[in-house]
Amino acid sequence: LKKYKDIISIIENEIDSVDRNIIDYINDIFLPKELSIFLLKKSKKIRSSFAILFIKAKYGKISDKQLKILALTEMIHNASLIHDDIIDEAKTRRNEPAINILFGNNSAVIIGDYILSLVLKKLINFENTKLTNLFINSLYEICKGEFEQDLNKNKFPTIEEYIKKSERKTSELFKTALIGALLSENQQDNIVFAEKIAENFGIMFQVKNDLIDFLEKKSDNCGKNDAENGIFTAPLIYLNENNTQIDVKKDSKQFINAVKKTEDLIHYYGRKTLDLISSFPDNIYKNALINLCMEVQKGKND
Ligand code: FPP
Ligand code: MG
Repeated sequence: LKKYKDIISIIENEIDSVDRNIIDYINDIFLPKELSIFLLKKSKKIRSSFAILFIKAKYGKISDKQLKILALTEMIHNASLIHDDIIDEAKTRRNEPAINILFGNNSAVIIGDYILSLVLKKLINFENTKLTNLFINSLYEICKGEFEQDLNKNKFPTIEEYIKKSERKTSELFKTALIGALLSENQQDNIVFAEKIAENFGIMFQVKNDLIDFLEKKSDNCGKNDAENGIFTAPLIYLNENNTQIDVKKDSKQFINAVKKTEDLIHYYGRKTLDLISSFPDNIYKNALINLCMEVQKGKND
């Protein structure tokens, strides 16, 4: 995480401003203290970092309005994680007890919904139909991805199905952050290009996240991993392709091969992202975006 912090140190002020916007938004409603702490806990804010670096690399500056949009996407991310942790039976999130542990599953459901509806309420104030459409469609896709994953529990998807689901679950919110920020300032000239970058970056990020989950033996207090939840991600799909037992030893040829193929998949989407970034004008933000992409590929996502 230190390496990551170094990379985004050049946008520290903007990230602080995203945090301040989140504080302003949640100060509008009553929330129990533990919940505010969860929402305000310093997190990676990778979606915001990605969008800020893109916009500063292309346009030189980012506006307050755009940083407000990023705060809203971070809040959607938090609401989705609160629900995700109920589904996954997670015990911790960001090294602290998960909301479902602090408040119980029933309250965690309504807390996630409450935060989500607060986001939509704040979004209306922008009075921008394109922006509203973007957020609503994106929420639909995220929920569809999560629903598909749930419906297909304990089944092996094809790699193509797995990528499509990852696009919905994860790339969508990277897209909403970046395209939302661009639309809020009427910066329409790079939309298609921005969508492509966000799509590839998001898939790379999710596959890496899944590989870490696969390789980490979660301790009891962290909760279950994807496989234990019946969610079969890239490494397991590759293991299954060769009709191997999925509980093979970690030093077996099949295991090492499945990890290698997953890493190749991460690098494939990483390369596509880097190719798109290469057309940016040369500046420190472009370099930081390149480093961010490299760091996701080789680092620990947490
Ligand atoms: C984390 O994935 C989860 C998501 C990217 C999406 C979760 C979406 C929902 C639960 C639908 C409800 C949505 C809203 C907006 C309330 P992961 O489990 O791979 O990541 P992790 O390892 O961090 O848990
Ligand atoms: Mg999860």
